Amino acid sequence: MTAAHANESRPRRPEMTYAFWGAVALAVLLLVGTLVSAIRNSPVSLADPENTAQVALGRAVYATHCAACHGVRLEGQPSWRDRLANGRMPAPPHDATGHTWHHPDGVLFGIAKEGLVPGKYAPRGYQSDMPAFGGALRDEEIWAVLAYIKSTWPARELAHQREVDRQSRTRR
Ligand code: HEC
Repeated sequence: MTAAHANESRPRRPEMTYAFWGAVALAVLLLVGTLVSAIRNSPVSLADPENTAQVALGRAVYATHCAACHGVRLEGQPSWRDRLANGRMPAPPHDATGHTWHHPDGVLFGIAKEGLVPGKYAPRGYQSDMPAFGGALRDEEIWAVLAYIKSTWPARELAHQREVDRQSRTRR
């Protein structure tokens, strides 16, 4: 290498390197942020009434774990609007005559997994006979039950719940 060549290769300026890697880090952060918010606001529900495999699993889970209280045909307990002698509420229907379809997916999933947690899904001090299934069922099984329940709703209730669910996602 001649002396002339050595003079041509300019030393790298460290501040340029910092700026470069800073820009790379920023770009990665922006990309991750965009992806996370895209997934969170995704209109796609994890409980899909048109997914026949998921609905079939959900039907079996429902029969084993939910039907005893919510009814074999999702009709709920008799006189489900009237308080029981113990002061608690009977199990409501999950069909179109109940109010399951008034709630977004996240709330239904939470109630099924954790029960009607007072201060979260119910008023403070609320007592309920709805069990928490977090120990007995995997998350996929809970989503499957919800898919099955949805698959029984007429178009109007299905569309209403989809809209309620969509709004709950974009509000976060
Ligand atoms: C031991 C009886 C019992 C079983 C079994 C049971 N539930 Fe419930 N569930 C209830 C009762 C009672 C309520 C109403 C509680 C209240 O209002 O205090 C309820 C309420 C709910 C609600 C809230 C509905 C609404 O519109 O607010 C959901 C969702 C629900 N149950 C899902 C399920 C699912 C899914 C299963 C099966 C995995 C299941 N439950 C099994 C008794 C039961």
